Amino acid sequence: MTSTLDLRVRALTWEAEAVLGIELVPTTDGATLPAFTAGAHIDLHLPTGTGDCVRSYSLMNDPAERHRYCIGVNRDAASTGGSAWIHSQLRPGQVLQVSAPRNNFPLDNSAAPAVFIAGGIGITPMLSMIRTAVAQDTRPWTLHYAARNRAAMAFVPELQALARRDGATLHLHLDDEAGQVLDMAGLIAALPAGAHVYACGPRPMLQAFEQTTAGLPAERVHLEYFGAREAPATAGGFTVRLHRAGRDVSVAPGQTILDALLATGLEPLYSCQEGYCGTCEVAVLSGVPEHRDAVLDDAEKASNRRMMICCSGSRTPVIEIDL
Ligand code: FES
Repeated sequence: MTSTLDLRVRALTWEAEAVLGIELVPTTDGATLPAFTAGAHIDLHLPTGTGDCVRSYSLMNDPAERHRYCIGVNRDAASTGGSAWIHSQLRPGQVLQVSAPRNNFPLDNSAAPAVFIAGGIGITPMLSMIRTAVAQDTRPWTLHYAARNRAAMAFVPELQALARRDGATLHLHLDDEAGQVLDMAGLIAALPAGAHVYACGPRPMLQAFEQTTAGLPAERVHLEYFGAREAPATAGGFTVRLHRAGRDVSVAPGQTILDALLATGLEPLYSCQEGYCGTCEVAVLSGVPEHRDAVLDDAEKASNRRMMICCSGSRTPVIEIDL
């Protein structure tokens, strides 16, 4: 488990149908929080009473702010844990354990045009990116924001104000009014020359995004999954060699590497356990991982130098990692 900060819920706001805005502040007046960059997320450790419930949420406030973290939480209709607990139990004044920010979805460093594509609650990392683009004042940007209907579309007045301030274009797409989902192929075909394109949203949207951007240079395509992208590798039947600990641990069928390490009393860092937060990333010293995460890009996976032990397995009988 990662070390955490104690943060107080200062405010809860109803932002759209099933979307709560949450402002978290230090418990000590005047304290500053660890800095973050646009696209970063934090992990909330939620006292749901059903074991360790950790959920990752993107920061949506201005990264220049050091006095608070702001997130948006969509109530997942199928949720019995994290988002349902937040919507029904969390109250202003409550103190939560929160990880320091991590960023698996950064803005590129260039001034190239940015095209942001958000679906539903996937708008939250785009908000911090857009605030950064507005502050930089050098990066032209466009936002395509889709939701199933108008009631479910959060933060629209704020986005409109940011777009007006920066002379940017905001395209709002309502599935029910358009009678169809966002035309991803048309949107990608019309990208400005040299643009970097960023997407965050539900799995079908991101799958369409991955398919339609397959021909673009990888360094211009950026996406973030919330939740597992693939099933974890649990075939087992291999040994994980812990270089620093100087010991071998067998990974049995049905286990992930993380499961096997925890079962032997070891305490590696982890959080989401679904391959998208990056907390459990380790260096690979020998052997070939079977990658199942949504953190590493294709080139990083092909290099076989790093892996996420919560979901990825091994293609070799022994895999040695830097733990
Ligand atoms: S714990 Fe989140 S990627 Fe492994």
